[in-house]
Amino acid sequence: MTPNASDLLRWYDTHRRTLPWRSLPGHRPDPYAVWLSEIMLQQTTVKAVIAYYERFLTHYPTVQDLAAAPQEDVLHLWAGLGYYARARNLHACAKRVADLGQFPDTVEELLKLPGIGAYTARAIASIAFGVPVVPVDGNVERVTSRLFAIEDSLPASRPLLARQAALLNHPKAAQKRPSDFAQALFDLGATICTPRNPSCLTCPWRAACQGHAKGIASTLPRKAPKQARPTRYGAHFVLQDETGHILMRKRPEKGLLGGMDEFPGTAWQSTPWTEKEAIASAPFLGPWKACGEVTHVFTHFTLRLMIYTATLPAGHNAGIDPSFGTFRSTERAALPGVMKKCLALAVADLETR
Ligand code: ADE
Repeated sequence: MTPNASDLLRWYDTHRRTLPWRSLPGHRPDPYAVWLSEIMLQQTTVKAVIAYYERFLTHYPTVQDLAAAPQEDVLHLWAGLGYYARARNLHACAKRVADLGQFPDTVEELLKLPGIGAYTARAIASIAFGVPVVPVDGNVERVTSRLFAIEDSLPASRPLLARQAALLNHPKAAQKRPSDFAQALFDLGATICTPRNPSCLTCPWRAACQGHAKGIASTLPRKAPKQARPTRYGAHFVLQDETGHILMRKRPEKGLLGGMDEFPGTAWQSTPWTEKEAIASAPFLGPWKACGEVTHVFTHFTLRLMIYTATLPAGHNAGIDPSFGTFRSTERAALPGVMKKCLALAVADLETR
């Protein structure tokens, strides 16, 4: 049996979360706000997103403002939020939408834009334009696996979960309020149907939930065992000149942390570097001071970086090969989270000199 959409919507009317990108009841959602929030919310929690979202809207109140911004400003504002391909695609998408004059209002047209996949196209279409489709993210997968007591494991069960989730909005009540229905599913997943210890007693869909009836709701969705996350090793060099500027370079546009700034360093390899090997990749002979290690967990590997610091004697800037970067203020840099950690360690050390 398909759960009763009216029960969920009634619950949403009294329990909906207040979120900065959400329109108030009875107000028309702003497609720009919806799109920006959905891009930020990919692989990122609501808590982490809110401050970034508000800063973006302050800097770029409209999609035209964002389209007109230099890419380095957009990357700078995104720095620390992770998954940096999103920021590059965000900017490319803003330019396309500014050229089009408005956001497209169908799933099919939204899918043609940079950075917009199956989930995001459905989220924007339903929330901003009232298209009756169900966006399936991790929250909705969890709710669906429990409602239908689907015991197959993720990720193999993903297509089945998407097919079952698509049934949820068939009832007339859901078809009448697609925007609220999609957001009600997110809120149910985030506040009631949580990964651990779901609050089944207060759930508006408890009576329809087969997982609850079988007593297995909290064990779903099942997940295939994760591969162990490998470790990679590197070394980075924080070199300060006599004006306090630091040597930084831009990473290649493609690939991990693409287009973001970094301190020059070694490649990231599967075995630790000896100090001698590492310093062979340094921008000048030194002396370098080892000031500690930074650990950063990426989706596919853990990174361990040795950090070396040095101050450059006055007048030596010209001797640095440009492939190592340029001396700049870190305040305007687009430093990803891992490089912010390196900087914090290095600054604590440089300040003691
Ligand atoms: N997760 C993904 N999109 C969301 C939204 N619009 N509101 C709350 N959580 C979300």
